[in-house]
Amino acid sequence: MRAAQDSGGPARAGTAPFPRTAVFDGPRLVAVGGVDVVELARRHGTPLYVLDHAELAGRMREYRAALGADVDVAYAAKALCVVGVLQVAAAEGLGVDVASEGELVTAHRAGVPMGRVVFHGNNKSVDELAAAGRLGVGRVVVDSFAELDRLERVGRRLGHVFDVLVRVTPGVRAGTHAFVRTGHDDTKFGFTLSAGLAGEAVARAGRCPHVRLRGAHCHVGSQILGPGAFEDAAAVLTGFLADVRDAHGVVLEELNLGGGLGIAYRRGDRAPVVADYGARLVQALRVGASARGLPEPRLAVEPGRSIVGPAGITLYTVGTVKDVPGGRRWVSVDGGMSDNVRPALYGASYEVAAAGPAAGSGGGAGRAAVVGKHCESGDVLAPEARLPDGVAEGTLLAVAATGAYGHVMASNYNRLPRPAMVLVGGGRSDVLVRRETVDDVLAHDVSLPAEVAGAPGPAVD
Ligand code: LLP
Repeated sequence: MRAAQDSGGPARAGTAPFPRTAVFDGPRLVAVGGVDVVELARRHGTPLYVLDHAELAGRMREYRAALGADVDVAYAAKALCVVGVLQVAAAEGLGVDVASEGELVTAHRAGVPMGRVVFHGNNKSVDELAAAGRLGVGRVVVDSFAELDRLERVGRRLGHVFDVLVRVTPGVRAGTHAFVRTGHDDTKFGFTLSAGLAGEAVARAGRCPHVRLRGAHCHVGSQILGPGAFEDAAAVLTGFLADVRDAHGVVLEELNLGGGLGIAYRRGDRAPVVADYGARLVQALRVGASARGLPEPRLAVEPGRSIVGPAGITLYTVGTVKDVPGGRRWVSVDGGMSDNVRPALYGASYEVAAAGPAAGSGGGAGRAAVVGKHCESGDVLAPEARLPDGVAEGTLLAVAATGAYGHVMASNYNRLPRPAMVLVGGGRSDVLVRRETVDDVLAHDVSLPAEVAGAPGPAVD
C-alpha cells in the first residue's frame, strides 16, 4: 500500500487528480483524509461528495503564500457554496466572492466577515443590492449602467455608500470552453473597454453620491491552464487605470483580476502551479503599473475551481454492468448527470478509480463506459474509464476532482435526491450537506384541488 504525501507542495503526481491524502492499493482508492472509503459509503451512503480538508485548506494557504499579505484572496463561492466550506475559507483568512443573495446569506451564516465579501452578478436585483448594503459587503462589482443607477437608488434609500469596483471586459480571450469564457468583448458581463463604456462607467460612478469607486475588476475565463491570459489582463487593466487617471484625474487603487486558474482532471494533466501563477501575476502588475507611472494598485483574486476542485471526489456504487457484444462494457452507477452535469454540459473528462477492496475477480479488467442512472444517453460520467479486474455490482467507484461546479450545479433530474457531502480529515468525517430524501424533492410540489385536477375537459364525443 502506498501512502500519499499528506501535505503541501506542488509535486503531487502520486495522487493527482485525487486529493493529497488519498491512499491507494494498486489502482484502488482505499482511503481519503484518513478515512476508509468503504466506511464512508457505509456511514453516509452513495453517491457521496467527499471533500478532503487537507487539500482544501492547503490550497487556500498556497494562494495566500503565493500572493503575499498585500493581496486579497476571495474564494469564489460559486464553485462550491455550502456553509462549512465558507467557514473553512474564513478560518484560512480568505474573503468570499458571491454572486447572488443565496450565496451572500451562506457567507453570512458561515461567519465570513462581510467586509471581505465581493458581490458579483450581471443582474443583481434591488433586493439583492439592499441585502448587500444592509449586511455591509466589502465590494460590489458593478456590471452595467442600469445597476449603477439601481445602486445609487438603494444607497440613497438605505443611507449607505457602496464601495464599488467597475467590471471591465478587457477583450482578452482565454482558451477555455465557450460557455465559461467571459473576458472577450461581446458578453453579458461588465463594461466593454474597447467601446469606451468602462471609462463612461467611471465618470457616471463619480456622479453617484452613494457609490465610492475603489477600483476595477475583470475575469477572463475559467479552467485556464497558462499564465498568459492573466498577464494580458493585468497589462490591459493597468492601462485602463492609467486612462482613467488621464481622462478623469482619478487614481483607482484596486485591481481585482478574478479567478480562472485551471486544475488537473485526469492523470497526467499538467495543471498550473499556484506559486508560479502568483509570482507572474504580481510581476505583471508591477511592470504594468510602473510603465504607466501608476502607484501599484492593491491586487485581489477570486479563485474557485483551483481551490475546491481537487479537494473533492465523488463515491458511487456500481449497479448494473452490461457487456454489449462488439461494443463496450457499460458500468452504471447510482448517480450521474444530476450530481455532475459537467461531462454532459461541457464534454468534461474525469478520472475514475475503483475504490475499496476488490469485489472478487470476474468482470474483467479493461475499458468501460461509466454511466449514470438517468434516462438519457448523454448521461455518461466517463466514456472510456480504465477499471481494474473485479468491478461488479456493489463495487465502489471514485471520480476525482469533482469538488468544483458539481454539487452547485446538481439537479433533481428524474427526481433523484441530491447526494450528501462530507468533509474528511484526520480520520474523521463530518457532514457538510445532508442527503436529500424523496420527500425533500417533493417538498415544494403543491397538489391541485380535486375540482381542478379532475375537472372534465371539453366534451369529446
Ligand atoms: N470570479 C468571477 C467573476 C467568476 O465569474 C468566476 C467563475 C470566478 C471568479 C471563479 O472562477 P474559477 O476560479 O472557478 O475558474 N460552471 C463552469 C465554470 C463557470 C465559471 C464561472 N465564473 C464549469 O463547470 O466549468
